[in-house]
Amino acid sequence: MANQADLIIGLQWGDEGKGKIVDHMAQTHDYVCRFAGGHNAGHTIVIGDQTYALHLIPSGVLNSSAVNVVGNGVVLSPKDFIEEMEQFDDLEGRLFISDKAHLLLPYHALIDQARERMKGDKAIGTTGKGIGPAYGDKVTRVGHRVGELLDPPKLAAKITTYFEMYRGIFEVMGVELPTEAELVEELSGYKAVLAPYITDTTLLVWDALDSGKKILLEGAQGTMLDIDHGTYPYVTSSTTVSAGAASGLGIAPRDIGRVTGIAKAYCTRVGNGPFPSEDHGEAGQRLRDNGHEYGTTTGRPRRCGWFDAVAARHAVRINGVDQIALMKLDVLDGFEEIKVCVAYEVDGRRIDYVPYDLEEATPVYETFPGWDTTRGIQSFDALPQTAREYITALEEMVGAKMGIISTSPKREDTIVRKE
Ligand code: GDP
Ligand code: IMO
Ligand code: MG
Repeated sequence: MANQADLIIGLQWGDEGKGKIVDHMAQTHDYVCRFAGGHNAGHTIVIGDQTYALHLIPSGVLNSSAVNVVGNGVVLSPKDFIEEMEQFDDLEGRLFISDKAHLLLPYHALIDQARERMKGDKAIGTTGKGIGPAYGDKVTRVGHRVGELLDPPKLAAKITTYFEMYRGIFEVMGVELPTEAELVEELSGYKAVLAPYITDTTLLVWDALDSGKKILLEGAQGTMLDIDHGTYPYVTSSTTVSAGAASGLGIAPRDIGRVTGIAKAYCTRVGNGPFPSEDHGEAGQRLRDNGHEYGTTTGRPRRCGWFDAVAARHAVRINGVDQIALMKLDVLDGFEEIKVCVAYEVDGRRIDYVPYDLEEATPVYETFPGWDTTRGIQSFDALPQTAREYITALEEMVGAKMGIISTSPKREDTIVRKE
């Protein structure tokens, strides 16, 4: 059997705890590769009493032996990437950026924010980082790639031509544009820092696969934020599902082996858009408080609610999930009753799939008995019986085994169940 990469993917609306599991698995992998998204992602990792917030650098960076790859499917803001790099002093030789990744430049963020303002109450609630405009330029074929950073005057001239083409739109949006000379200076600064890391990462990953190295593919965002399969238009602009890992790195679908889907034991969403199992009352607030549900990237309070088994089953199928890592079980500690969305009602009809317009769906709940505490428990058998029953019920509803269970932010509070 040929060597295959392991994949980690978010099954809900992002922030499921991917960073913790990537860090956990990176300890037994040689390469960790990001394939989609940009610095809209925020992955928090707790090691001992240190907390790290990563946005673009793969979460394997905290293992000094892992090589980290930023693939072609990512949109990269050089300014933010360089700032993030400053936390580490040993990146050369273990961090590589695809020359085919697209550049996200400051004007993309300004366009993103201007569009959101213009949309008023129809705003998506983006992170304001420029993700949509950067991917938009890529598919419109007016984007600029990381490889072009190696020749700043040539790239500055190209960007200036692009500005000319869209000048009217930029003016209406109130976006201030740099001059060509300013651009040369800005881009030269990026080149000075990033040049040693820029390479053809497709070849790098092929070599790693062919020489039997263990590779971990790190998803960002979540299935319900996918550009095609999420709650459009309230989504991000990239392919966040498993399929994106192949195109976002330049590997074949058959190069992907085991898929671990990450899901919280409840649900959150940040930004606007449908979220059928959202709880606007006391329970939602309690989940937010217990789970510290405030965004890593924007600090916004996350909307909270119950586990959505319909959406999770959809995500299991679309991503080809082999096992689930169930995160933040401890956040449900102390609830007398725990609800799970087991179906939706649309126009008075009960359905068990994700409909075209999730806004129209109201949740059908089943209620499970709660438990006292799971916080910090490190073996499945030591979990309270009602917690074990909750997990078993979820496995049946979503059609996948929960092979990993997480009971605190700490590295060591991770239950790995035997196959
Ligand atoms: P990601 O974007 O999927 O990597 O997730 P985030 O890092 O944005 O959000 C997950 C948050 O939950 C982080 O602050 C983690 O430290 C924290 N976390 C992860 N696993 C657990 C857990 O099992 N219990 C608790 N209480 N917190 C957790
Ligand atoms: P991680 O990797 C949660 C959401 C935004 C907004 C929508 C579009 O940490 O799980 P964008 O800035 O991408 O155009 O915003 O997507 N969003 C996330 N929500 N976790 C993320 O990443 C997210 N990345 C984007 O809040 O609703
Ligand atoms: Mg996050």
